[in-house]
Amino acid sequence: MSVLTNMKEELINAKNKKQAIPQFNINNLEWTRFILEECQKENYPVILGVSEGAIKYIGGYKTVVNIIKGLISDLGITIPVSIHLDHGSSKESCIKAIKAGFTSVMLDKSKENLDINIKETKELIELAHPNVLVEAEIGPIGSTNKNENYTNVEDCKKLIKTNIDTLAPAIGNKHGIYDGEVKLDYNLLEQLDKLNIPLVLHGASGIPDEDIKKCIGLGITKINFNTDLQIAWANEVRKYIENNKEVYDPRKIIKSGEEALKTIVRNKINLLNRQNHTK
Ligand code: G3H
Ligand code: ZN
Repeated sequence: MSVLTNMKEELINAKNKKQAIPQFNINNLEWTRFILEECQKENYPVILGVSEGAIKYIGGYKTVVNIIKGLISDLGITIPVSIHLDHGSSKESCIKAIKAGFTSVMLDKSKENLDINIKETKELIELAHPNVLVEAEIGPIGSTNKNENYTNVEDCKKLIKTNIDTLAPAIGNKHGIYDGEVKLDYNLLEQLDKLNIPLVLHGASGIPDEDIKKCIGLGITKINFNTDLQIAWANEVRKYIENNKEVYDPRKIIKSGEEALKTIVRNKINLLNRQNHTK
């Protein structure tokens, strides 16, 4: 039986149990293997997030799908795995992903006005459903050194009417490294939770564990991590190269960050698995 899933059912179950499923972004073949191996060891479902930049770097939409399918088979992966287009910039990009075998897509029209966001999301859903999950963003979510944005609840209600499967709101979260204290708007999150749709927390790297737990308690069901993995991996690789100047085998260099990356994956899973904490 295939372990590939759009994760719709798992996300609804997770929301009911006040748990969350991680999205870990992949950047290459090795990262994909490290993440799959660790999630399998922890026996926890995983969403492999692939940005358009990563897709281009890896070689293309089909290459990404074939790498993941190959690893699932060769490594004997049995946990649910989703292949998700992260921050898809256009309907065309989402369609390419769907045709290549992605099980989940995000159409990020959060920088456009709401009418365009709704119109394009609706058009995509007609093509994607019922097989492929569709995520939409409304905010837009900020990035490092820029002001926080906050989603408007009434706008969210309108976007949800398109029949999206998951909603990524802006609640003070930012992509990349936070340049100061993380200030999430829990009152806003409480109102969004009432909309009864799995909510996605983007930019979760750098958010303290206690805040993440609070978010899960208030309906966040999918949590996206990229920067934390990148920093952990890069720090180890940098140390390895500095201490092993004679090494030129790329396998040894890339592998030197494996344990650091797997430790982050393991820690995040333990944080997201609500059986591991009570509140
Ligand atoms: O879409 C990807 C995520 O939102 C990752 O954000 O790099 O801040 O963890 P992050
Ligand atoms: Zn994001």
